[in-house]
Amino acid sequence: MGLFDSKKAETAGQVDMSRLPRHIAIIMDGNGRWAKRRGLPRTAGHKVGAEVFRKIATYCKELGVEYLTVYAFSTENWKRPEEEVGTIMGLLKKYMVEAIDSMERDQIRLKFFGDLSMIPADIQEMVQRTNNISSHIHGFQANICLNYGGRDELLRAARTFAQACVDGEKKPEELTEELFSGYLFSAGIPDPELIIRPSGEIRLSNFLLWQCAYSEFYFCDTLWPDFTEATLDAAIIDYQKRDRRFGGVKK
Ligand code: IPE
Ligand code: IPE
Ligand code: MG
Repeated sequence: MGLFDSKKAETAGQVDMSRLPRHIAIIMDGNGRWAKRRGLPRTAGHKVGAEVFRKIATYCKELGVEYLTVYAFSTENWKRPEEEVGTIMGLLKKYMVEAIDSMERDQIRLKFFGDLSMIPADIQEMVQRTNNISSHIHGFQANICLNYGGRDELLRAARTFAQACVDGEKKPEELTEELFSGYLFSAGIPDPELIIRPSGEIRLSNFLLWQCAYSEFYFCDTLWPDFTEATLDAAIIDYQKRDRRFGGVKK
């Protein structure tokens, strides 16, 4: 054990590998502030942030977490300067090119949550390719939320169900939580047990509004580009100390 690891063990304890969350969701926030503090353009923060996503996804897979959902670009993020949006899309494209090459070898399934019709056509085409590759892969799954909004996701689900009723395929009284969940981008995936937001903001910013009903939240001040495996360990350890009652009484 190196110096860093022993320090981590002292301060945070150890992750209980027998009680890992199956699904962790992260709002990857703080790239801009990280760059600003270094006198760099905001885009420099996004570049480092993309590397950190790779590192944390690999770590989640190594730990044995089954699903990692990350918030990469929200339905509100189009309000940003064109240059910043362009850089984020460029980084995404770079990531996808690499992912298409390596996901089979690394056994990483990739899914995209969000309205992809607004995304540049070449990226949409790459999404199609990663979907095809993912269909042959079993194991760890990374979900990238892209032009994603929780309200948008709920409206789409409601619209699809309403249309199924109009078409006579469904009846309003048939609607259950399970059925409704099946209309969401996250269909078939368990809700995240743990949602992490770094960067000091204590809000959801339209992330996983349906799926977060019983999630445990972990907020920390670390900016996303500074987020490490040890930060994730600390979040999981904190989660493992929580008493999840789901409306019942304490054990
Ligand atoms: C998160 O970092 C990345 C995206 C929203 C795309 P920010 O760019 O929001 O960084 P801050 O919050 O301004 O520091
Ligand atoms: C949420 O972060 C979206 C992503 C991390 C992709 P924002 O930085 O956009 O959220 P606000 O504006 O602080 O609520
Ligand atoms: Mg932000």
